[in-house]
Amino acid sequence: MKRDSSLVTKAAITAVGSYVPEEVLTNHDLEQMVDTNDEWIRSLTGISERRIAKTPEHSTAFMAIKAAQDLCQKNNINPASIDVVLVATITPDYQVSSTAPYVATEIGATHAFAFDISAACSGFLYGMSTAASFINSNQYKRVLLIGADKMSSIVDYTDRTTCIIFGDGAGAVLFEPSTNDYGFENAIHGNDGVGRDYLNIHDGGSLHPINEHSFSAGKHYVRQEGRTVFKYAVKHMSETSNQLIAKNKLSPEKIDYVIAHQANKRIIDATTHHLAVAKEKVLTNIHKYGNTTAATLPLLLADFESSFKKGDKLLFTAFGGGFTWGAAYLTWNYDYKN
Ligand code: UT7
Repeated sequence: MKRDSSLVTKAAITAVGSYVPEEVLTNHDLEQMVDTNDEWIRSLTGISERRIAKTPEHSTAFMAIKAAQDLCQKNNINPASIDVVLVATITPDYQVSSTAPYVATEIGATHAFAFDISAACSGFLYGMSTAASFINSNQYKRVLLIGADKMSSIVDYTDRTTCIIFGDGAGAVLFEPSTNDYGFENAIHGNDGVGRDYLNIHDGGSLHPINEHSFSAGKHYVRQEGRTVFKYAVKHMSETSNQLIAKNKLSPEKIDYVIAHQANKRIIDATTHHLAVAKEKVLTNIHKYGNTTAATLPLLLADFESSFKKGDKLLFTAFGGGFTWGAAYLTWNYDYKN
């Protein structure tokens, strides 16, 4: 039986918070560490600098907590009123132990249940659908979704093909039942298991547990076949976004902003070229943060929150390890108040 969509409670983003470490790693710093140069990095990725959490205690959970506290403080949210805490990450503080429960406890979300979402660079996007489903169910009123990654903890700073790309950071959003019919509209997600060969940490999982050779071979670091990942990313982000545009009877002119995963400026440009959306609608902050994996989408929301108006049509898209990908359509719920 078809469900009457007018009975479903729409989930709206009602608050945003963020945190990035103070320490800046510039392209010129990287020139001193590997055989690379500022011109190559800027022209091939669009990145000028990234933030790195150098203090060991400044873990993924630390950044997630800071982003959540920023959200709660700015919007006068009592953490005890939060029902669910979701942390999208591929760099949890510990293996086995989920990061989200610790974050929930530390921020004082004493009544929430909490768990992690692992979908690499698509983690926040998948989390949006998860958060919206909890609100749609009418069982939960406040879902805190955090995207946080300390990529510097899994990057090999002698590998010039990966260390130039990644950075650390965290962003948080609150989903609540919409009171004005703006909010999360729908999403399309996809995946292809072939991707695990092209982007992974080879050792340390159940297939290849850490052994005495893992560290000398650097197999505990993240590796990727960049060109393959690049092609898959452009193809699937653009195809899925166009499917979503058609599904919602949108057109490029009707979209107000594109919030795309910040992996490489050339990937963003090629993807949005296929969508025929005007360049000024495509938001970027990759030049200052690099690829922060699950944090790129909420960091864009935090950076551009003051530009959004109630009713603006936002198209999200992301691509990541697995491979995982997707696109989501959301109408913005509020005008910015300082
Ligand atoms: O978020 C999802 C995860 N990751 C991604 O989405 C990343 C997707 N991939 C990429 O962004 C790009 O593939 C990279 C930025 C990683 C690399 O760009 P590319 O256009 O695919 O370059 P390439 O790997 O094909 O390398 C081109 C040349 C090579 O030299 P030769 O063989 O042409 O002489 C590389 O050795 O550039 C060289 N190179 C570098 N040169 C200076 C590779 N890395 C560097 C570097 N500095 N850091």
